[in-house]
Amino acid sequence: MTAKDKSSPPDAQSGAKPATGANSMWGGRFDRGPAAVMEAINVSIDVDRKLYAEDIQGSRAHAAMLVATGILSAEDGAAIDRGLATILAEIESGTFEFSRAREDIHMNVEGRLADLIGPAAGRLHTARSRNDQVATDFKLWVRAAIDRADGALLRLMRALVDQAAQHADTIMPGFTHLQAAQPVTFGHHCLAYVEMLNRDRGRFADAKSRAGESPLGAAALAGTPWPIDRVNTATALGFEKPMANSLDAVSDRDFALEYLSAATITALHLSRLAEEIVIWTTAQFAFARLSDAFSTGSSIMPQKRNPDGAELVRAKVGRILGDLTALCVIMKGLPLTYSKDMQEDKPPVFDASEALEISLAAMAGMIEDMEVNKPRMLEAAGAGFTTATDLADWAVRALGMPFRDAHHLAARAVGLAAEKNVGLEDLSLGDYQSINPKIDARVFDVLGVTRSVESRTSFGGTAPIRVREQVKYWQGFLA
Ligand code: ARG
Repeated sequence: MTAKDKSSPPDAQSGAKPATGANSMWGGRFDRGPAAVMEAINVSIDVDRKLYAEDIQGSRAHAAMLVATGILSAEDGAAIDRGLATILAEIESGTFEFSRAREDIHMNVEGRLADLIGPAAGRLHTARSRNDQVATDFKLWVRAAIDRADGALLRLMRALVDQAAQHADTIMPGFTHLQAAQPVTFGHHCLAYVEMLNRDRGRFADAKSRAGESPLGAAALAGTPWPIDRVNTATALGFEKPMANSLDAVSDRDFALEYLSAATITALHLSRLAEEIVIWTTAQFAFARLSDAFSTGSSIMPQKRNPDGAELVRAKVGRILGDLTALCVIMKGLPLTYSKDMQEDKPPVFDASEALEISLAAMAGMIEDMEVNKPRMLEAAGAGFTTATDLADWAVRALGMPFRDAHHLAARAVGLAAEKNVGLEDLSLGDYQSINPKIDARVFDVLGVTRSVESRTSFGGTAPIRVREQVKYWQGFLA
């Protein structure tokens, strides 16, 4: 307490109105206002102003329900609704003055409503608390964020399917351990990400369906004696139904946690694609080129085309996982029901949504105009003896060998080719017969990368005919 605090006279005022300096929303029993640092730690308007549209939407639905149930007069209801519409317009046109003294978005809106319509504004909070109000606003916001993530995921999926359609038979090395393993098609590679991203959409959709119950009407924690209609407000706000337990309704933040975990997995997927773009666009790989719009130069090295966008996308998962971790730790160990700790739930969610949405948009932009270097990919596909498995499979099929023996045979061929510094298809029939005299000229049919890729027709395999089927499926799905 500062000297000034101590010397300030206790406010003599008592009764219905809070003392000067005390908060007009809840300061009825307070003799004076908060310490400056208390206000500073308590205030959330700089963060939760993002919820303004949901807050006004929730209040309008609540007021309409209060009128429908006879709790609020039609006149007051109409004045409240008009006032809230004015506030929405003020905020959207930038003329609204957000006040730190009014703490948060809920009290900023309600305080402004009182400025605009007078005492009737005070009736809006009947049968409601900021506890169910904030849970409702935030859940509505997260549901909208899920829809935006879904739209952004679809755009990226389309970009990948377009690349897959163009490159259903573009051959590249497939990797395990980042070592050339077997030839695959670039189209197949792109569609692997489409599968991942569609699972991401499923996780967001699951999160949204579980976030389909409205907290509004739980009031502070225990429900309310007022004859409210929670189905009415739930329906008006686009929820499926009201949450069945008032304690759960005000203390639950699972919807935010689920959003953050789905966002984390999506961002993790994006980081893998980003890493591949970083690798593909090196001079050493030269598999792909990002457009000028998605490359940056170096101020000192004129030859450079840096994939900064991909690198930043690769990094964003760190932030988003950090946001998930933050909210998990904030919620951990909180007793039922609301605790002010929960005001700290919004920064991580807002931060993650911004990071996720910009990552998805940047990645879609990069993929949409990324150019693939087909000759370079083809050349790399054949390097590193990537058809050794085809040779082993051939020996099983044509010579009736057990796979383990065929594996040894192919390994010896790889050794010989490495020694001669040539590819498997460049060894002579004599070379092959020195390994096993039963090998005949048909072996050359399986050694090229094109034949290798074309032969992998199993369901889910990389053969161009299978890739084209999948492209068609996804084109239909995304149409
Ligand atoms: N600003 C608060 C939050 O975001 C609103 C709820 C306040 N409720 C309360 N009982 N103090 O959590």
